[in-house]
This record gives sequence, structure tokens and C-alpha cells, in this order.
Amino acid sequence: MKLLAINGSPRGRRGNTEVILQAFLEGARDAGAETETVYLKDKTILHCTGCFTCWTKTPGVCIHQDDMPALLEKVREARILVFATPLYVFTVSGLMKDFMDRLIPLAFPYIIHRDHHFIHPMRHPEAWPKRMVLISNCGFPEGHHFSGLEETFLRFADSPDMEWAGSILCAGGELLRSPLQDRLTWYLDAARRAGGEVVEEGRIQPETKAVLDRPLLADPAVYARMANAYWRSLGVDPLPKEVVDTSPETQDRLLLPPRSLETVRDVVAGMAVAFRSDLAGDLRAVVQFEVEGEDPGRYYLLIADGQCAAYEGVHPGPTLTIRTPADVWLAIVQGELDGAQALMEGRYAVEGDLSLLMQFNRLFSAA
Ligand SMILES: Cc1cc2nc3c(=O)[nH]c(=O)nc-3n(C[C@H](O)[C@H](O)[C@H](O)COP(=O)(O)O)c2cc1C
Repeated sequence: MKLLAINGSPRGRRGNTEVILQAFLEGARDAGAETETVYLKDKTILHCTGCFTCWTKTPGVCIHQDDMPALLEKVREARILVFATPLYVFTVSGLMKDFMDRLIPLAFPYIIHRDHHFIHPMRHPEAWPKRMVLISNCGFPEGHHFSGLEETFLRFADSPDMEWAGSILCAGGELLRSPLQDRLTWYLDAARRAGGEVVEEGRIQPETKAVLDRPLLADPAVYARMANAYWRSLGVDPLPKEVVDTSPETQDRLLLPPRSLETVRDVVAGMAVAFRSDLAGDLRAVVQFEVEGEDPGRYYLLIADGQCAAYEGVHPGPTLTIRTPADVWLAIVQGELDGAQALMEGRYAVEGDLSLLMQFNRLFSAA
């Protein structure tokens, strides 16, 4: 089964869209598809002029002599079409829009009624229907930014000549090539699964879609902070004072993966890395650490949507609070002290949901 993927990112192979697309294609190939990716940035595709010559004087043939006629041949031959585009101003990139506009020579100008509405029937009836997949990612951390884009493709696919096979819409996609990418294998595994499902079952299955709809980071405010830190590191001019940021957690700092486990701060940051997303289910919890002694500090773990992030700060509603001298917690983590016994001996204290503490070994089992 031939699958044609169109990558509409101006970044091409170096983009975030590509990361998801290639995982998807791997899954499709494993399921037996023959895949080809076209990078629109490497092609010359002129704007449609709206002259309709391809519908009148030269049926099926555009006035432009560029790379599009060869791509129309590839479209005709493919059984599955994957439109992969970054979100640009709530819709497809300009490259992808030109490509989509230039597909109209494949249709007849006539308007006919099929199923529940009017459509243009396609030329080359043997080439249709096709399975259609949309893959996108965007810079904002919230999924609602894709609503217009998805609607465009749902309309596009709402024809007897198309079979909607589903979408992968990844908010916060800049993480896909960030230092946190190693923690996102679960997402790319799901994208790989989706590729296989489109080939074998005709569409992305609901369980896989549910995983793909999970945010890459549980907390959009953290994503915003990381993005802003990045822009600042590039020396981008600062925001004017009158611009107000109402993000709820701008005071708390995300702890990035630690290099060693010498302090409780490192240990808490390491717990977020060691978190077993696969065992988390729908657990939502906050574990607050109040560290006393020589190296005091306040840290918390935020667990939601199968993700765990570590912060420096005090959370207003922890599920479980652990008050501990630094050396006691470090000794427990290093296996020098038995956690349950140390608790009974009062060497550290807990408040809140004790059953969560009982799950630590399982939930942070790579620690
Ligand atoms: C011109 C332009 C418009 C963009 N518009 C949006 C947008 O509307 N919403 C959004 O969340 N991100 C937007 N972005 C960010 C991109 O979607 C984001 O950088 C994405 O990761 C790029 O994917 P790529 O690396 O595959 O090109 C825009 C970026 C550019 C350059």
C-alpha cells in the first residue's frame, strides 16, 4: 500500500513536524506500507492564480510549469495521504496551502450532490478514495490552537473520495527537539502505533488518539517559562513592564533533569525523570517536599496526565507533604535507611495521602 507524506514545514527534515511524521511512517512501514516523503521546502510550487485554466482550456493541467505536475502523479498513485504541517497562524503553513490549492486540477469543475452535500467529483476515479491523515505541531502548549486547522481537514476529507483516518496534533511541539526529548518516547511510540493502525485498520484507534492528545508537559505554565527562558537566552529584547503575565505559577521554577543525586533538590528532579508514565494511569497528585537541615529547600512533584514535573517552590494544594531533614531523605534514596522504618521512628514526617507514599517504589521505579 503506497503512502505519500507531504511535509509542509519550511524547516523540512530539521523541524518538529518531521519528528512526529517519521515515527508515524516507521509504524506504517512496519505494517507493510511503502512510504515516500515529499519536502515542500525543496520544491517549486507557484501560487494558484485562480484562472481555472486547469478546468477549462487544459483539463487537469495547470498553467504553471513547476514541480506540482510530478507531485500530482504521486498523489494519484498513493492510497494514503499524510499532510504534515506546522501550525502557522492557526492553520497550515504557506507551503502546504500552495500545495493544497494546486490539487484542484485533480477535480472536475462540476458540482454534484453525493451523500449529504455538494462536491467536486475527482478525475481519475480509479485513484480514489484515499485515506487522509493530518499531522501537526504548534508552538503554544494548548491543544485548542488546532481547532481551525482540524476543521479544515475534516471538511477536506468529508467527501466520498476521502476516508478520514485521523490526526496527530501535538501542542508544545518545540519540546520534540529540546533537551527534554528523551522523556517523550511515549509520544513517539504512540505516533508509531498510529502509523501502523492507519495501514492495518484504516484509522488511528481511539486508545492511541487518547495518548496522542495528552500534553507533552502537564503544566502549560512550565512550558511557557521554558520557552521564555530560551528566548531570553538568545538576547531577545525584554517585554515592556506594562505587559502583565497572569500565568498561575510563574513564581515556581521547573527543575531540569539533574546530573548527580547529591542533594534532595537533585533527587526530586531525578524522581520526575524516573517517573513511570506507563504506570501512572489517571493519577493526579502533588507531592510537596519540605527539606530541613543543612541544605533546606521546598520542592514539589506535580503528577497529571501521565506526566511528572518537578518544581522548586510551595504548591498551594499538595496531596502528600514530606517533611524531612536532607540527610534522612538522601540516606533513604541511597538505600542506607529503610523508608518505612525511618517514618515509624519519626526521623521524617508525612501529611496527607499516605497511600501515595506507598506507591513511590513502583511509580519511581527507575530511580
Ligand atoms: C509564521 C509562523 C506562524 C506560527 N503560528 C503559530 C500559531 O498560530 N500557533 C502556534 O501555537 N504556533 C505557531 N507557530 C509556531 C510553530 O507552529 C512551531 O514553531 C512549530 O514547532 C514549527 O514546526 P516545524 O519545526 O515542523 O516547522 C508559528 C510559527 C511561525 C514561524
